[in-house]
Amino acid sequence: MRKWTLEERYKTLESSEQIKYLHEKIAQSPYRQLFHIQPVTGLSSDPNGFIFHNGKWHLFYQWCPWGAVHGLKYWYHVSSPDLIFWKNEGIGLKPDTIYDNKGVHSGSAFNIGNDLYLFYTGNHRDENWIRTPWTCAAKLVNGKFQKLDKPLFGPLKNYSEHQRDPKVFYNEKIGKYFILLGAQTEDKKGTALVYSSDNPLENWEFKGELKVKGYENFAGMWECPSLQKIGEDDLLIFSPQYIKLDGRGNSTNHNIYFIGKMDYDTLTFYPYKDFEFLDYGFDFYAAQLASNIPNNDRAIMISWIGLPDNHYPTEEEDWEGSMTIPRELTIKNGNLIQKPITGIEKLREKKLELDGILTIPSELQIDILGEKFNLKLFTKQDGTGGFSINYNKSSNSLTVSKKEMTNHYNEEIGEVLEIPLKKNLKSLRIFLDKSSIEIFINNGESTFTSHIYPTDEEIGYDINGDFVLTAWNLRTSVKDDFIV
Ligand code: FRU
Repeated sequence: MRKWTLEERYKTLESSEQIKYLHEKIAQSPYRQLFHIQPVTGLSSDPNGFIFHNGKWHLFYQWCPWGAVHGLKYWYHVSSPDLIFWKNEGIGLKPDTIYDNKGVHSGSAFNIGNDLYLFYTGNHRDENWIRTPWTCAAKLVNGKFQKLDKPLFGPLKNYSEHQRDPKVFYNEKIGKYFILLGAQTEDKKGTALVYSSDNPLENWEFKGELKVKGYENFAGMWECPSLQKIGEDDLLIFSPQYIKLDGRGNSTNHNIYFIGKMDYDTLTFYPYKDFEFLDYGFDFYAAQLASNIPNNDRAIMISWIGLPDNHYPTEEEDWEGSMTIPRELTIKNGNLIQKPITGIEKLREKKLELDGILTIPSELQIDILGEKFNLKLFTKQDGTGGFSINYNKSSNSLTVSKKEMTNHYNEEIGEVLEIPLKKNLKSLRIFLDKSSIEIFINNGESTFTSHIYPTDEEIGYDINGDFVLTAWNLRTSVKDDFIV
């Protein structure tokens, strides 16, 4: 693993020429994705500023240009007509003011009238490396984002330095704009801070902490909170840090959700039941809900395939990270249903006949008819190894293991995970790109997302049980042009 000095990690990008060679180098990697957003160079982490504006979808990702390392963060901009075909647009926001001298950290986007605004955290550090997080905004003017002269507000005194990731929204019933900010109390407990205003560009007032009934002081810091009404229910998602949770191995980074009712008068969220994991995979974090979606009976979400403080094999090649396929979220009988974005089917090439050792397809639809089901993807020619998915009828769960794969990474947080199912296993829809796997279980009742790095020898599969399998290859939908 490469050791980075502070100076290397926080180097400012002066010209695109400085990283052109990196783009050319990583283009050779067998793990570059074909239908997932990935970093143009270096590292991509949280999705930011996800919005529908002026007939187009915009998304940004936390970007560190120099390599697979968390250092000076930029917002890199991608756009799409349909959430399926994406192209690179270049840098959205760069750290070029005193308020964000050590990075433009995560945030959201919001349309004000016909204008697109980005709301982000300016990560300031002084010469003693003391951090001040500023909540800032920028406006899209003639294709470029112009930062407002001054931040909207600074940090509150009686919380730790961790106050960041503004999610902006408007509540019609209250008639006000809101910002939800992930935060940590002075005694290192997690929370979210609520601000409101009549005008999204000024007069923001701190209203109090978001109270989630039963989860007062839960975990260490609530990163990347998002809140949205879906039909008659409210969906709250965030990524609580520094806590081990049941069934998640040794990981201390999770992405969870609550469904319930939000009371804006008392700033209390009443969950119908306990939190659930937004995804049961190894690498899923910092999911964000899109703003300004066409109808309010669903949400659209995208997430980082990756985790903070983790290391992946492509680090050697000086890049890492990817976004998930965007997902459509609905709530049925109090349960969250997640589906891959409608229209992804248009990427399908002809249906494949599988014979066990063909190159693995990119999409598999498996309808399970019996009580026994075992699947191994990426086995070797002799049938050994592979990424296994086993159904346990008695505990009604799936066990997923990457233990038998050749490439091992992040072993300390565990290589085997258990996914509890709500109903018997009926179907799996699996998407495999060059370095990721996403599984939609029982039509989206639960999901599993991970990186996966098969070698040249790991190209087979093995499947057992009573099932109907359909498979397709998908064509490339994300352009990897060097636009910086
Ligand atoms: C989550 C996070 C955010 C922060 C950003 C910095 O992964 O830590 O809280 O704004 O990453 O890149």
